[in-house]
Amino acid sequence: MSDVQKVLFLLGSARRGGNTELLARSAAEHLPADAEQTWIHMDDLQLPAMVDTRIIGGGTYPSPIGDERALLTATLDATDVVIVSPLYWYNLTSRLKLYFELWMGWMLLPEVQFKDRMRGKKLWLITTMSDEPAEEADFLIGILQHSAGYARMRWAGALVAVGGTRMGRVLENENALLRAKTFFSSGVESEQSLTETDAAIVAGGGHIAVPTKPGLFHGAAHHVEE
Ligand SMILES: Cc1cc2nc3c(=O)[nH]c(=O)nc-3n(C[C@H](O)[C@H](O)[C@H](O)COP(=O)(O)O)c2cc1C
Repeated sequence: MSDVQKVLFLLGSARRGGNTELLARSAAEHLPADAEQTWIHMDDLQLPAMVDTRIIGGGTYPSPIGDERALLTATLDATDVVIVSPLYWYNLTSRLKLYFELWMGWMLLPEVQFKDRMRGKKLWLITTMSDEPAEEADFLIGILQHSAGYARMRWAGALVAVGGTRMGRVLENENALLRAKTFFSSGVESEQSLTETDAAIVAGGGHIAVPTKPGLFHGAAHHVEE
């Protein structure tokens, strides 16, 4: 079991209780009993738009208050940050994109020492998407790998399940649920043994891609319900 102790789950779907959250909750069931879990849906927070004060603002950023302060504190407290985002246009949802934009402001707070305190924490991704190929999530995985690297975090791995348009669909995806069981205990820091049929590994990234039924959603429009 990897050293997962305080896990912050950040949920960013535009619907509650959707496939991505369900997959994340399945994975979380297999965390060590003594691992602390904090679940935050971004819609429960009132966050400001990020303001770029690097030059015009003299390189200072207003000290966060309210929900932004709570999110910063939760981030700093965590050993592991799990981004729970459906794939939206090959990317994070806007809610979670904002989270990463706020990091830039937090990095300007001398009293926080954000970068120093993020160093060594792990960044994980759990995502679902409707269309094959699963490799369309590679952009998102790459974005998070780069973001982890910038903050000197450790990239820990991604769990990607394909075929999630109908709510709850992911719970019918046996492969995804199987992978969820060992997701936090394996990550990219240990060897993965994956078959070609239900998984793909991105070079250097080690993500687990789990199609629900190969071909089922091939060519389907992104936003059309089953
Ligand atoms: C705004 C929007 C953009 C989407 N973009 C993609 C996409 O680029 N690729 C894809 O395969 N599915 C896309 N989807 C489908 C969702 O990723 C998919 O239905 C996901 O399982 C929803 O997760 P949720 O149930 O947790 O909300 C999109 C859905 C929405 C609402």
